[in-house]
Parts: sequence; structure tokens; C-alpha cells
Amino acid sequence: MKRFALLFANSLIALGVLAQNNLSFNVDAAKTTISRQIYGHFAEHLGHCIYGGFYVGEKNSTIPNTNGVRNDVIAALKKLKIANLRWPGGCFADTYHWKDGIGPKDKRPTMVNAWWGGVTEDNSFGTHDFLNMCELIGTEPYLAGNVGSGTVQELIDWVQYVSFAGKSPMADLRRQNGREKPWRVSFWGVGNEAWGCGGNMKPEYYADVYRKYATFMTGWSNETKIFRIASGANSKDYNWTEVLMKNIPLNMLGGLALHHYSVINWNKKGPAVDFTEEQYFEIMKQALFMDSLVIKHSAIMDKYDPQKRVALVVDEWGGWYDVEAGTNPGFLYQQNTMRDAMIAGATLNIFHNHCDRVRMANLAQTVNVLQAVILTKEEKMILTPTYHVMEMYNVHQDAKLIPLTIKCNNYTFGKETLPAISASASKDSNNLVHISLVNIDAKNTQDVTINLEGGNLKTVGGRILSSGKLQDHNSFEEPEKIKPAPFQGATLKGKTLSVKMPPFSVVVLELK
Ligand code: AHR
Repeated sequence: MKRFALLFANSLIALGVLAQNNLSFNVDAAKTTISRQIYGHFAEHLGHCIYGGFYVGEKNSTIPNTNGVRNDVIAALKKLKIANLRWPGGCFADTYHWKDGIGPKDKRPTMVNAWWGGVTEDNSFGTHDFLNMCELIGTEPYLAGNVGSGTVQELIDWVQYVSFAGKSPMADLRRQNGREKPWRVSFWGVGNEAWGCGGNMKPEYYADVYRKYATFMTGWSNETKIFRIASGANSKDYNWTEVLMKNIPLNMLGGLALHHYSVINWNKKGPAVDFTEEQYFEIMKQALFMDSLVIKHSAIMDKYDPQKRVALVVDEWGGWYDVEAGTNPGFLYQQNTMRDAMIAGATLNIFHNHCDRVRMANLAQTVNVLQAVILTKEEKMILTPTYHVMEMYNVHQDAKLIPLTIKCNNYTFGKETLPAISASASKDSNNLVHISLVNIDAKNTQDVTINLEGGNLKTVGGRILSSGKLQDHNSFEEPEKIKPAPFQGATLKGKTLSVKMPPFSVVVLELK
């Protein structure tokens, strides 16, 4: 009878009636490094990201701060191990004149933030404030230069101001403003979205503009070893990548950017919290599309750069919804639910699995804007589900990717399907193996069987992020509704690991 039941079950599996999720990998095949720079974030002068989010001012006596930067935000980002932080934009970057943000704060000119709400800023958060803050957080700065409305001279002055150790007009100005030693700034963006808010340029024109800026920022031989990043394609604009790769010499290019947001419809994005399953499905379709984007942009880059010298830098990604009711539409403030946890987990898995080319990325944005990891309200701060996913996943930083094969069930909505399971695995310098798994299925638990080859793995433990409803989120009233918990759903027998994944959950396992 037992034998018959087994045969029957096997026939059903063969017919696809009872499907299975199967993963397999060989631990000894771990080779390519998952750059920790994939775990970068983005801080634009937009809404309450900088002002009120990171920075509350030196004179603030109710919110504990260091030089005006919130202590709670610094501590949370340190724990998150954010690898780099991009600033000051975004669209804002191509309107920003850095010299307005240095020197005595009461003498700085104001500026109008034309892209984001038309608000007047007092320039009290400038270059020193940002770079000192990066030192406090322990993250690498990524400065986005103004190409759209700036000049070559303005950008090379900035490079010299922050980086030059010797005597020069800019280095002396820095000293006069209180900073003797230069900061360490490797990452430089040469404009942002040059095809849109950065100047509405055509790729052929921008390629020439880029060559000019890149030349004076450091020279042909890149003697100051800065990592120059060209403004990249908007989602599936493959022609942009083609033209830039064809026209920019490889020795002038450290990285080529790519921006892709998970959005349903730019004119009707839908709510951040009270969304339907249909809207969830559509957003997940957009998020998983990142895989196809990375594959296609990489294939173009491979034609011109088969040795993969140039990094694909996905320096804006994340979910984009309608702003919360009653908030300034120009401030892009949105809540963050389990749906965002699904986007984060699946997207990071995609980046890991393509880490030979994707070597840097930036979630948009860090605090109070779009898919934020932190939300603040006066003296209160909460961590979002996205924060927790990125914290659980940071064990992959600088570990070696273990390539895996995956065969999984579909998550079906109406007549459409998406793969239910997303996964990636890595081995770190202590030989610990980590597997991150996401079950995006809104309704079904998924049983995953993982066949392990190589290594000598004996134990498994892990953490899970899950909740009762997809729309669940942390709020200022209930800040810990969603947080990682120890995971009991994995068992290791010999070389077979069995994992039970609840609907819309993220699991990170550690094997040793
Ligand atoms: O992240 C918000 C905006 O989205 C950025 O300023 C811009 O680069 C992109 O269009």
C-alpha cells in the first residue's frame, strides 16, 4: 500500500499535478565575490530624507544627534552595514552647486529644490556634513556630480576639495572650513539620469559630455584611482547602454548605471498599504523584471567589455507607490509593507546571482522616501520590513556566490504566473554557507528541497521575516509588528535540506 502511494505521488509529480520546488548547488563551486557595494543606499535632498530624516540640525535639543545627524539613524545604519551612500541626488544632483553648502552655515545662500516640492533649502547640510556623517556610519560616500546645470570646473573643484591632500586652492579652502585631511571618496557619479531630469540628452551627446568630464576629473590614466560612474539607462532602454559602451573608452569608465523602479503605472501607482493582490502581483512582475534587465544590459556590456571591467551599477531601485494621504506629493513619502520585503529579497537575490557584472547598487531611498529602510516622525524612528530583509541578507556581503539551479512552482494570479521561489547562496570567509529564499506566493506555503553537494555541512539555523497579511507594516504605534524571528522550518538530513516557506516570507539560512 505504502509502495503504491509513493508510485502514485511520483506519477502525479511527473504529470505536474503535485509540483515541487527543487534547488541544488555545489558548495565547492563558490567563486565570484558578491560585492558588499551591492548593499548601497541613496540619500537625496528630497522630502524628509535629509532634512528631518538624517539631519535635524546641531541646535536640536529634543532629538539626540551628533553634529546635527540623528543618533538613532546612525546606529540603525551601522547595524545594517550599508556599504555606500549616494548623495545629493537623484534629479537634485544636477541642480546642486556644492560651493553653496560649505563654510559658515549662517552665510550659506538658500536654494529652491525645484524637482521636489519647490521648497526653499538653507544649504545647512552640505559636503562636510555628508562626508562626516558617512564616517560616523562607517559607509563609503558616493557623490553624484552636477553635469546638467554645472560645469567641468565645478566638478573637478569638488573632487579636489574632498580628495586632495597637498596644497591647492580647493584643499586650502577645505582646511579653512575645518577639515585638514581629505576624506576618502572613490565613487563619483557623472550626472544623473542624463536622458531625463539630468538634461534630456541623447546618448551620443551624453557619451561625449561624459568623456569630457571624466578626463578632467582624474585624467586618462585615472591617476587618482577614482571610480567614475556614467549615468545609465532608464529600465529597458538598451540603446542607451549600447551607445555608451561603444563610445566611452573602458579606461575612463568604472561603472555604468541602471535605474529601474517597480511601479504599476506612472500615472496611477496605487497605494503603498491598502493594495489588492492584483496590484501586488503587478509590482512583483516589475521587481522580477530586474533579472531580465540585468541579463540584457550585461549582454550588451559583454560585447564591448568581455573581461567585465566595467561594473553595472543599479544605483536606483525599489518600489514606487502613491504618497501617503495628506503628505506633500513632491516628498514621495510612502509606507513599507511585506510587499516591499518581497521586492527587496527577490532583487538582492538577482544581484547576487549576477554579481560578476552587478557590483554596486543603491536602494531608493534610505529615510522617509520611496522604499525606505527607516521612517522618522519627530523623535521617533521605525525600521521597515525592507530594513529587516537587508539586515538579514548582509551575511552575503563579500562572500563567494554559490551558483545554483532552481526549478520551482508558479505563483498564479488570474491567467498569469510568476516563479514562486527566488534564491541565492554564498560561502563566506569562515566557510559558513548562507541561503536566502523568498516565497512571493500570496496564498500558498511552499516546500523547498535543496540538494547540497560539496562542503561538509552538518547543521542548519536561520531567521524568517513573515506576517499575517501582505499589507502588514511597522508603524509609529506598533514599531515591531514585523521583525525577524528564529526559523524552525528547515531540516538537514545528509545532503538534503528541506525548507517550509510560509506565503510571502523571506528566510535566510546558515549552514555549517
Ligand atoms: O528617487 C527619486 C528620483 O527618481 C530620483 O531623483 C531620480 O533620479 C529618479 O527619477
